[in-house]
Amino acid sequence: MEDKRYLTFALGKGRLAKKTLELFEKIGITCEEIKDPDTRKLIFVNEELKLRFFLAKGPDVPTYVEYGAADIGIVGKDTILEEARNIYEVLDLGFGKCRMCICGPESARDLLQHHEQIRVATKYPRIAKDYFYNKKHQTVEIIKLNGSIELAPIVGLSEVICDIVETGTTLRENGLTVLEEVCPLSARVVVNQVSMKMENERITKLIRDLKTVI
Ligand code: PRP
Repeated sequence: MEDKRYLTFALGKGRLAKKTLELFEKIGITCEEIKDPDTRKLIFVNEELKLRFFLAKGPDVPTYVEYGAADIGIVGKDTILEEARNIYEVLDLGFGKCRMCICGPESARDLLQHHEQIRVATKYPRIAKDYFYNKKHQTVEIIKLNGSIELAPIVGLSEVICDIVETGTTLRENGLTVLEEVCPLSARVVVNQVSMKMENERITKLIRDLKTVI
């Protein structure tokens, strides 16, 4: 057999990684050691298939892929939009489905409709800016937060938030509601632009195989 180089995968840590590994198993790609919850190793190898995997923070996955430190990445569409890296998005894996929404108390609906100058708290300032400035042509003040975004309108930091809604439970339990939908989200496969050319055959086969099981 020809001497193949390693194909390297960057997986976003957490739920997406677990689902991704389950999917890979279905197409015969296994990596036992990555599943050990106690391991402190950062990189895992499948010698037989010449594959390497590492787990990274979600927002770092597009960075690893753009620079070619990983050939392929699995990451949420929210992160792809927010990071805006030069990478190819090649496949929707169909899991991790949720929505990016503008949310707040029912009372904020009027403010949105009348294009009032409001404050928008979010972990996704680029997505929020694109939505309000380019799609709605509405001037807003965007406040970047790092988590528990639903707190912002409750404590008076902002009128609305731009955040991910999955089941809607967090909103409901905090007296908030979806006011507008920005876009649907799910897990995606992204590929380095040079790898797509240099390793086209292997990467195309992988995408084809994945399509048969999703
Ligand atoms: C995400 C999101 C919402 C919640 C939505 O938060 O920011 O808060 O999940 O899920 P639900 O509609 O099913 O309730 P995450 O758990 O990632 O935490 P963080 O935003 O505080 O980092």
